[in-house]
Amino acid sequence: MKKKSLLLILALWASWIGCYADEGMWIPMLLKKYNIEDMQKEGFKLTAEDIYDINQASLKDAVIGLGREGQPFFHFCTGEIISQEGLVVTNHHCAFDMIQSHSSLEHNYLRDGFWAKTKADELANPGITASILVRMEDVTDKILSRLTPEMSEQEKNQTVKAICKQLETAAVQGTNLMANIKPYFNGNQYFMSVFKIYKDVRLVGAPPSAIGKFGGDTDNWMWPRHTGDFSVLRIYAGADNEPAAYSPENKPYQPATFFKISAKGVNEGDFTMVFGYPGTTNEYLTSFAVAQLQDIENPHKIAIRTAKLNIINAAMESDELLRIKYASKAASVANSWKKWQGETKGLKRFNTVALKQTQEKAFQNWAADKKEYSSLLKQYETLYGQREKLILAASYLNEAGKRGAEIVAWANSVYTALKNNTQDWQRTKEQLTSAAREFYKDYDVATDRKILVEMLQLYNRNLTPEWIPEEVQAAARKKGISAYADALYDKSLFANEEDVLKMIEQATPETYKKLEKDPACRLALSMNVFYAEHIYPDLAGIEKEITALNQRWLAGLMEMQPEKTFYADANSTLRVAYGKVQGYSPCDGVYYQHYTTLNGIMEKDNPEIYDYNVPQKLRDLYKNKDFGPYTQNGEVPVCFIATNHTTGGNSGSPVLNEEGHLIGLNFDRAWDGVMSDIQYDPEICRNISVDIRYVLFIIDKLANAKHLIEEMEIVTD
Ligand code: ARG
Ligand code: ASP
Repeated sequence: MKKKSLLLILALWASWIGCYADEGMWIPMLLKKYNIEDMQKEGFKLTAEDIYDINQASLKDAVIGLGREGQPFFHFCTGEIISQEGLVVTNHHCAFDMIQSHSSLEHNYLRDGFWAKTKADELANPGITASILVRMEDVTDKILSRLTPEMSEQEKNQTVKAICKQLETAAVQGTNLMANIKPYFNGNQYFMSVFKIYKDVRLVGAPPSAIGKFGGDTDNWMWPRHTGDFSVLRIYAGADNEPAAYSPENKPYQPATFFKISAKGVNEGDFTMVFGYPGTTNEYLTSFAVAQLQDIENPHKIAIRTAKLNIINAAMESDELLRIKYASKAASVANSWKKWQGETKGLKRFNTVALKQTQEKAFQNWAADKKEYSSLLKQYETLYGQREKLILAASYLNEAGKRGAEIVAWANSVYTALKNNTQDWQRTKEQLTSAAREFYKDYDVATDRKILVEMLQLYNRNLTPEWIPEEVQAAARKKGISAYADALYDKSLFANEEDVLKMIEQATPETYKKLEKDPACRLALSMNVFYAEHIYPDLAGIEKEITALNQRWLAGLMEMQPEKTFYADANSTLRVAYGKVQGYSPCDGVYYQHYTTLNGIMEKDNPEIYDYNVPQKLRDLYKNKDFGPYTQNGEVPVCFIATNHTTGGNSGSPVLNEEGHLIGLNFDRAWDGVMSDIQYDPEICRNISVDIRYVLFIIDKLANAKHLIEEMEIVTD
């Protein structure tokens, strides 16, 4: 039998009898019921209560979700507390925006790193929040019992929303906590998370990008990897240790518990667990959805971003100031761009569509005589058929339009703020003025102009006119796109910071009308109108129907396989993934070992290539073998891989050993298994972590920040 078909059969078999070991992101309060036995079988030495307990301190009290004021329940990254004084480690790329916003040509913290010598030197990051989970509650019955079969989808949604609001308010009344209910299992279950959210999070330290982002976007999503992707923060609280807005009077937060750090070492086969906030996965998609993603959405979005990145990268190569300005933007554009490529490749290589189709056939046989399920797949097929053109148009509108040239989104947001202003006029002006300063600090007209030309060209080339906003079409007529762009940046107020600041200062409730004539604003409005009239109504209708189907689909799958333990897709809530440290074989004849070392950094060292230019100090430490105690077999370990099921948002998550001690920080996944958001395969899916001993080595030897090491509790057995 061919290897490929054998693999397919094995995969199918495994997906029928239950989840793979290693697959899954589990709900902390349910570990006792579903996972702890298995975890202990795999080597874990603690109990479910050691991880999650609402009566005593447990590991969950040391895990933080990093968020932003205004959307504190969306955790863009995870961090963990590692000292009694609220010291936190997370990834370099998680704090990248913070480091960048404190950077200038004089204080280039991105390039040179930053280390606060004393607590007084730690830098405030307005708007950044740190959530600590206080407790969870299953509220499924409280919600579902209020729904009746007679209700329309819309009535159901409204009812769910209203009950959630009531429950959330009641849960935290009279406290300083915040509650948030989210659907799990496509809305078949609901859990409430109650958080304490700290609002004063300061930057304590970050290595130079040549360490924290070593390998840059070239190595991103790749293994073997040598990135020291970590940074250090500290949570501050009021005098009573409770959340408080930033104040120089605030005190370091005293946590209920913190992670001990293990210097014992990491070996292949060791138990590992990742405890953090995975953002979104889609493990229960149908074949129709996967096909559309891999054949339509991903390829187009990749092409648009390739064009954009070519321009941004050339600008960054040409000038040091442009490199600072565009560093954060480029990293985020490149990150999804590359991920979509790995994902598409993986989905095709592992025949996900075929796998799903086989599963759907079995479902259809089982569902044939069940009224509530028998027509599901047919409905999916019809809906995805209708969705195809709309999602393509929406992808262009988003990627080439609204997130294309920056001037478009910027003009739109200023216009909208002025037009819809409902608050005190002075306050709006102040907010807009500071937003403008922030925007122009990192803006370059010449680069943006090049991006606009490319975006308009792609838009006009790849879509038929019925899917292109009027102004985008008009740009290609008359004198052509390049002349259109010249005129736009010449005439638009938004190409000039001073003009915009003046306009804001003099703004009246009528100003927005004048802006409607501004060419950048016109382009943005044309996109808005097109979206509102030609895309949104149909697409939103279809998505709603798909969401409703998704609920029934997963309910059906669960009913069909009552013996299988399902896990809920990631939804930016706290989860536990567990597995083991393990290398993998990306292709025939090659086996990647599970760890990398400082030797590999030196092998990649190349002063000519920005991404591989090792800091001189690190070269010296290497030459002098000045490694301190941070070695294993005489080498300094840098990164390792394991079979934990992780996704975006898990970055910065604590990676723990069998004792619950910190052995690393999760930061990425390996190329061949990037499709794990849709299909996890234990043979090939690996999460990448930076070894905690490399973190300690850099803090101690490179940054000379011994005072931080002294704050931590390091165990060696
Ligand atoms: N791929 C990782 C994640 O999705 C790291 C991204 C940051 N690094 C970068 N080179 N852009 O967040
Ligand atoms: N790099 C991702 C993050 O920032 C993690 C991943 O997607 O594996 O959360």
